[in-house]
Amino acid sequence: MIRLHEIIRGCRDCDLCTTRRRVVPGEGAANASVMFVGEAPGAREDVEGRPFCGPAGQLLDELLASIGLPRESVYITNIVKCRPPNNRVPRPDEVAACTQFLKIQIGLIAPKVLCTLGGPALKTLSGEARAMGEWHGRSERRKRYVLCPLYHPAAALHQPSLRETLFEDFGRLGHYLEEHT
Ligand code: URA
Repeated sequence: MIRLHEIIRGCRDCDLCTTRRRVVPGEGAANASVMFVGEAPGAREDVEGRPFCGPAGQLLDELLASIGLPRESVYITNIVKCRPPNNRVPRPDEVAACTQFLKIQIGLIAPKVLCTLGGPALKTLSGEARAMGEWHGRSERRKRYVLCPLYHPAAALHQPSLRETLFEDFGRLGHYLEEHT
């Protein structure tokens, strides 16, 4: 995993390499049973080189704490590893260039449960454009892991009513993990 992170840090496969400050490969336990995949690094992540270390990350930390899941025990990454300018949604060509790394990360970690945070991550990993309102919190078994679509924590920062929904969905995730891990 350390070698893979080095390779990702050296990537120049899309235009984001010209505007990023730091690459954000991912962090966490290499043998994690639970993996979280967000959208792309934001401003804070671009400075620190770590995923979810800004405001959305603070809420993610609260959500993890609410189900007693230590952050160090999970693996956290994004579909693209470099910050898109002005935090715009990553373009399809940027996602396509970066997905190779996400696939290798999933293969190495082999999580039992893969949680997507937000629509773009769900679309990338399910291959379908699905409405979050319909799919959040509804886990489904895939060949190699259980896919658990969750709202992006940043969505709850902009739309406070989603905060409760996110805590409920994490609660369900916690129960699932108690029974299955
Ligand atoms: N939002 C994301 O999708 N990923 C991060 O790492 C931070 C904010």
